[in-house]
Amino acid sequence: MSLIKSVEELFTKHYGGTAKVVSFAPGRVEFIGNHTDYNQGPVIGAAINMGVSVALQRCEQTVFRFTSGLYPTVEVTDSSKQLVGKDSWVNYPLGVYNALLSRGLKPSGGFEMSIDSDLPHGSGLSSSAALELASAVALSKAYELDLSNEELALVGREAENNFVGVPCGILDQGVSACGKKGELVHIDCSTNSFSNIKLGEGYSIWIFNTHKKHSLVDSMYEKRHDECFEAAKELGVGYLADLTVAAFDSGKSKLSPDVAKRAEHVVYEIDRVNKVQELLLGADSCVKDVGALLFQSHRSSRDLFENSVPELDYLVDILESMPAVLGARLTGGGFGGAAMALTENTFTKVYAESVSSAYRGMFGEEPKVIHCWASDGARLIRS
Ligand code: GLA
Repeated sequence: MSLIKSVEELFTKHYGGTAKVVSFAPGRVEFIGNHTDYNQGPVIGAAINMGVSVALQRCEQTVFRFTSGLYPTVEVTDSSKQLVGKDSWVNYPLGVYNALLSRGLKPSGGFEMSIDSDLPHGSGLSSSAALELASAVALSKAYELDLSNEELALVGREAENNFVGVPCGILDQGVSACGKKGELVHIDCSTNSFSNIKLGEGYSIWIFNTHKKHSLVDSMYEKRHDECFEAAKELGVGYLADLTVAAFDSGKSKLSPDVAKRAEHVVYEIDRVNKVQELLLGADSCVKDVGALLFQSHRSSRDLFENSVPELDYLVDILESMPAVLGARLTGGGFGGAAMALTENTFTKVYAESVSSAYRGMFGEEPKVIHCWASDGARLIRS
């Protein structure tokens, strides 16, 4: 059954009738720019052909109902309060509702929402941003707000930072909002400007998810975030993106060894993102050279930012030895999660399976393999 049909059926099953509004938002792959976003640097991602769908209907009673294929139904009457424990997944759409209040949403009554997803669970493809964006598209339609997808990306990030409580940057929401078929999304995080870059025909993106998750993944993310801000402060700038490579190199001796490594990763990663952008926009876009920068990015995450794990390093090493692979790296926050590979289209399932079986030989279980392609961003399916 298609995702849209299943979210509509879920709606009917729980609330009766047919939902007024149905939306979809994709998951994302971080192409390059590891932990550059909250340092106000640039980042490049791709929206993918899998995501989250929301079906919605307003109701007269002041009650907010959420149901999903994955979790039990949740009902709240106070939309301004965060939920804790098993119901906390509702904070994503509820956070979006709250962020829309400051953008003209006039509260009256409540709503009923059903949610479904075809993103493999815990796949590191940012199902939370997809849920935020699908909710933002559906809610802004239901409450008659006229907001651009760029604005909805900011709404999603605000929900995540202020309501869910994760100090993430704009990457996940920006890519889910502004994806385009066959194109990557470039975000200048210092100005929140979004643009698309053609990837070109003949290339594929493969995801290898380790399903490993560092038990402290959220606090490790915050720790890295704080180390980056400490480095910027010590070096007399607002953000690490305000430093050139040369300025960083001449000031880095002021930093403690760990903080210097984190900052070095970010400053050089920003330089790599700029190079990738130039290469792809160049007259004869050199995707092979882009691949080399993806491998460099991984090594920098591994050695300097120290957010890789042996499973991801192993995957990137095997992928690097395969002929049709142009580049590979960890994608997203790190400390577990997934590796992505940019390949020529001659890289097939058979190659992917050989990576999986080598991985199984080493770690005893297979990674989840997903072949995906750059796709359109968040959108209304019907109203
Ligand atoms: C997570 C965050 C993003 C970004 C990446 C690392 O995916 O949600 O904002 O910081 O990690 O680049």
